[in-house]
Amino acid sequence: MYPDRVVSGMRPTGALHLGHYHGALKNWVKLQSELPCLFFVADWHALTTHYDDPSVIETSTWEMVIDWLAAGVDPSQSTLFIQSRVPEHAELHLLLSMATPLGWLERVPTYKDQQEKLADRDLATYGFLGYPLLQAADVLIYRASQVPVGEDQIPHIEMMREISRRFNHLYGKEKGFEEKARDAVKKLGSKRSKLYQELRTQFQEQGNEEALEQAKAMLDDAQNLSMIDRERLFGYLEGSRKLILTEPQALLTEASRLPGLDGAKMSKSYGNAIALREDKDSVTKKVRTMPTDPQRVRRTDPGDPAKCPVWQFHLVYSDDAARQWVDKGCRSAGIGCLECKQPVIDAILKEQQPMLERAQQYIDDPSLVRAIIADGCDTARKLAQDTMRDVREAMGLGY
Ligand code: TRP
Ligand code: SF4
Repeated sequence: MYPDRVVSGMRPTGALHLGHYHGALKNWVKLQSELPCLFFVADWHALTTHYDDPSVIETSTWEMVIDWLAAGVDPSQSTLFIQSRVPEHAELHLLLSMATPLGWLERVPTYKDQQEKLADRDLATYGFLGYPLLQAADVLIYRASQVPVGEDQIPHIEMMREISRRFNHLYGKEKGFEEKARDAVKKLGSKRSKLYQELRTQFQEQGNEEALEQAKAMLDDAQNLSMIDRERLFGYLEGSRKLILTEPQALLTEASRLPGLDGAKMSKSYGNAIALREDKDSVTKKVRTMPTDPQRVRRTDPGDPAKCPVWQFHLVYSDDAARQWVDKGCRSAGIGCLECKQPVIDAILKEQQPMLERAQQYIDDPSLVRAIIADGCDTARKLAQDTMRDVREAMGLGY
């Protein structure tokens, strides 16, 4: 009913590293040529955990946008913006909060997890509890169909689907809805309206999901319907409500995951990261000093790639032939570890080269970045305002 749209955000907490590139950004770059995409800096989300030290947020915001551009996110294809510059997100967050059961938020696994993990910060705050609800507002306000996220975010997407369903249930009532929906069915033409009725019955009486999908596909194809009638018919299929907000799907990034230099998850705070735009000498040094299979003490000791973090890098960066060379050379002590690392160093530098080049113009002229963001904020705001008009109206605030 609403057009396909991708929305995703990242918290500005410091320079991005190659783990972010392989885990998320590479996927954004791919998606932007397939679907309309909105990517934003989740600065308010950063405040939920860094409210006592917000100074890092400003610099991280602009650095992160440059990292995105460097990675190939293209402002002529995607809309790039900053969450706090689209204050409608906050309005939707507030309105959604009215009807969100506390238990839904308390039960989100990241809530307790993060409180335990970040035990040095006091996260017993209202803002932190609301983190996933703000995230729901970020996505629902654009009626997004897909949200590329990592696995840890799946419960957040599940919750936003429930929030959306609940909203439609509570506020999608319309005076004379049934009658208006039945009129809209007639407008489908006799053949289609008969099929619509049959599929609706099959779904409502037998819970036949396939019938539901088929009916939705038919509505997508129906040409001569007004927006509002289409909305009614979608709502009427599943119940007797208009669908004001949509239910987004998580788009799992099945990234070729790049671990950190020590084999653990790559993270700046673990000191095992390579920055997206790290200089050449530093990359070389970091890889050359990477730990290897601990059993391989001397050059003449055979090793096992499965026990070596360098192998994980070969899985991301090398082709089959090179991997065979590593596997054989390592197990037979035919190659040394520095020799084994060299193709990884070369591949990382090759990957980073175009990123460094793309970033340079933005470093030289930061006003370019501001202009891209200003444009993106305008575009995003218009879309957000459209949804908010419907939301306010549905909640009886349309005066
Ligand atoms: N919570 C996300 C993360 O930590 C960031 C985020 C905020 C986000 N709002 C979002 C992601 C909306 C996707 C959609 O990675
Ligand atoms: Fe690791 Fe390569 Fe050394 Fe084997 S040869 S231990 S895979 S760095």
